[in-house]
Amino acid sequence: MESIEKSNGVNKPHIATFFSTKGGGGKTTNAVTLAALLGELGYKVLAIDADLQASLTKFMLVDGANAPTGVSQLLQRAANGGALMASDVYASKFTGVDILPSNLNEESQQWMRTQPLSAVLFKSALDGEASKAYDFIIIDSQGSKGEIQRSAALAADSILSPIVPDMLNFGELFAGTIPQIAQLNMLSKYAPSCVPGRLKVFINRNEKTSMAEEVVKSLESLLPTVEGVDLLSARINKSTAFGNAIAAGISINKGDKRIGAKPTRQSIALIEELFPWVDTSSIDSIELVSGDANE
Ligand SMILES: Nc1ncnc2c1ncn2[C@@H]1O[C@H](COP(=O)(O)OP(=O)(O)O)[C@@H](O)[C@H]1O
Ligand SMILES: [Mg+2]
Repeated sequence: MESIEKSNGVNKPHIATFFSTKGGGGKTTNAVTLAALLGELGYKVLAIDADLQASLTKFMLVDGANAPTGVSQLLQRAANGGALMASDVYASKFTGVDILPSNLNEESQQWMRTQPLSAVLFKSALDGEASKAYDFIIIDSQGSKGEIQRSAALAADSILSPIVPDMLNFGELFAGTIPQIAQLNMLSKYAPSCVPGRLKVFINRNEKTSMAEEVVKSLESLLPTVEGVDLLSARINKSTAFGNAIAAGISINKGDKRIGAKPTRQSIALIEELFPWVDTSSIDSIELVSGDANE
């Protein structure tokens, strides 16, 4: 693709952080899927794995989980006023996507707790020249509360939170995820440039069950009343195509067409809603076969 307009025409990457205090909601799955699709669409993407479990690293890094450096070096450099360097990133299995692997452990978590400016370390790390090589920086984070996760959220232009429509996920959204973001919003009152992006909640692993429908209905009536939170209309249905494509190291549109066409369309719809400036016109050249096994 010859010329691509960067996020909102600004010479700066759009940073999107996957954030939820609940594990298993689909952060890593959607982070890989979106990063890979944006790469397929011709954008330059950096995927950052800020989760101790390093699942995104395992899925994306060419050499499995092995890389000599990763997020912990980046955060330490940021604590000393430094920022991302081109030598920090590795090629991923996906076209157009680089990866900054996770090499985080308990020790890095402890270290982060001792940092007076922990909340702004990611933001500061991604504020340098090397970041400008990217149209998008997609950060995956861990499904629990902590300084690393909070810092990743504060760096974001948009905070993406997949929610599986069941009671556990519903409860955790209101008891964990939303209050965490509200806390970050308090910071912006005193540090005006530290405004966290809006929390964009989207239904993931949706199913045609009465439980799922009930939870979606409740979200539709409650979320519009919560400040700083959007419920996206794009929804991702439950499909094995996501896990299959990720395990095979291929973008969802390159996977099994029989089950992957609808999931691909749903993820593209998510991209269009999240990033309206994105040029999805080359989607015409992505072969999609209808008649999916999964609704
Ligand atoms: N839309 C989906 N349809 C089917 N399975 C999904 C979907 N999204 C995620 N999963 C599965 O759910 C599990 C948890 O997803 P994952 O992305 O690892 O969550 P998180 O990163 O939030 O902990 C994985 O086994 C993944 O394959
Ligand atoms: Mg994960």
